[in-house]
Amino acid sequence: MKPIRIALTKGRLEKDTVGLFDQMGMDTTAVKEKGRRLILPVTLPEDLSGCGQVIEVVLAKAADVITYVEHGVCDLGVVGKDTIAEYGGSFYEVLDLGFGRCRFALAVPEGKDFFSGYTEKTIASKYPNVSRSYFDGKGMDVRIIKIEGSVELAPLLGLSDGIVDIVETGSTLKENGLRVVEDVMPISARLIVNMACMKLRKRELEQLIDQMEKTLEKRRETK
Ligand code: PRP
Repeated sequence: MKPIRIALTKGRLEKDTVGLFDQMGMDTTAVKEKGRRLILPVTLPEDLSGCGQVIEVVLAKAADVITYVEHGVCDLGVVGKDTIAEYGGSFYEVLDLGFGRCRFALAVPEGKDFFSGYTEKTIASKYPNVSRSYFDGKGMDVRIIKIEGSVELAPLLGLSDGIVDIVETGSTLKENGLRVVEDVMPISARLIVNMACMKLRKRELEQLIDQMEKTLEKRRETK
């Protein structure tokens, strides 16, 4: 039987997912000791024997997790709602994994009133589509400039009036003299599934997803 393949977003979500796998009784040693390897085996416990002996973990960049799942080369993926909201795609979003929590917010320099005045405002963001639909929802015309990182720089340098960006602790904003004007959308990690795989490997995938859901429920109860 071909092992179930799951793409994880490298970094923080990867670590959180491995933590969940550990709690489910999987042996994730290979992922923890991966070095530079990008495809790693994870051994499944007895109670998941219907899913085979191992699953394959693939480590990828967030947007690529969606691409691999959409094309069916990975059955499952773990990716942030931020990436899903920005890139979209055809897949099933089956679970909110509850970790990787943060939010999209509109932020501006302290002392600036973003919504006053009649001139068209400029927004800098790594997430132009999320920004566009947020302002469309408000019926507001804004100019959006795509920035690749450290978006907080854009209003400080006078490139934009504000930013739409991810806020977690709020320290980056604070330390750069910016403040949140409005929350745009909550974010957390999601489990996504390839549409065809969900039909073709229904029994195995459902068993794994059910087990993940039960473990997450246990976590919530013990919190
Ligand atoms: C993200 C985000 C903010 C920061 C928010 O950036 O774009 O800059 O984290 O976190 P905080 O509210 O806890 O301060 P990231 O570190 O991913 O780097 P980037 O700016 O290069 O995208």
